[in-house]
Amino acid sequence: MARRTAVLAGIALIASTALTACSTENPDSGTAPGPGAKPDGEIVLGFAQVGAESGWRTANTKSVQEAAKKAGITLKFSDAQQKQENQIKAIRTFIQQRVDVIAFSPVVESGWDTVLKEAKDAGIPVILTDRAVDTQDTSLYKTFLGSDFVKEGRSAGEWLTAEYADDKGPVNIVELQGTTGSAPANDRKAGFAEVIKGDGKFEVIASQTGDFTRAKGKEVMQAFLKSHKDIDVLYAHNDDMALGAIQAIEEAGKQPGKDIKVISVDGIKDAFVAMTQGKINVVVECNPLLGDQLMDLTEKVAAGEDVPARVETEEGVFPQAEAEAALPGRRY
Ligand code: AHR
Repeated sequence: MARRTAVLAGIALIASTALTACSTENPDSGTAPGPGAKPDGEIVLGFAQVGAESGWRTANTKSVQEAAKKAGITLKFSDAQQKQENQIKAIRTFIQQRVDVIAFSPVVESGWDTVLKEAKDAGIPVILTDRAVDTQDTSLYKTFLGSDFVKEGRSAGEWLTAEYADDKGPVNIVELQGTTGSAPANDRKAGFAEVIKGDGKFEVIASQTGDFTRAKGKEVMQAFLKSHKDIDVLYAHNDDMALGAIQAIEEAGKQPGKDIKVISVDGIKDAFVAMTQGKINVVVECNPLLGDQLMDLTEKVAAGEDVPARVETEEGVFPQAEAEAALPGRRY
């Protein structure tokens, strides 16, 4: 079903992890006087990134680093290597360094209240970017900038139900989940399940984490192919896992996109190339280019201005038929 659904929303470690700064950092920023106290108006942003697990993440990191430079904001950047304990350490380091604003993309949803309370007690505002946290106390952060992952899961399910509208089924689906406990894994699974549950012909026959990486996506898909001879559809929570799984499907002598339909999320260039080759059937976009919006919010919260509690990003759905035309315009 070739169609494009525009999904719009205008609502409005130093210890064990590497803590590095982009070129705009003032060498003295580690001993800066504290939130809101800088006479020269310099803003220091501590950013605790998830890791470098996917093409999406690399694009997100680049976007944040470039935007900080452009905005003249000093960025202290930390890579948590997909580990919550590393992110917590990085946030505590930012608190000790008295940065002006802390932003982070939480590896998993739960377990943040203690460290967020420490930041609040130190008077340092926190911005959640890309992924949300699961907390009752929304005063622990100023705003959340990122995608609606449930909506992305629903878009994936809606494409599937339209694609198989005239088919009696059964339709056997295997699912490659993102990092266990992460917001995109939880929400993309839930949104997809919500849509397909209305039609008994769809069945998720296997669902396992591929940790958002190509290598794990391939490994888990190999296991799925060994234990299930009758897979019709692969739903991968991101492009990297889909691309790894495609290798496994090809090595098993099957044609991805034909013998096994492939649904993916993100929209990195490699996935668009795979769509033009007929190997992915549809990509639900998840926009990583959050840098400029993050710097804008950083300036506002550093100045004590009010910001919307939720800032959602603008995204689309790209079926295979649109890949060729869209590819040259892809920015990540
Ligand atoms: O949180 C966004 C998700 O994290 C992306 O979809 C995935 O590729 C990344 O690793």
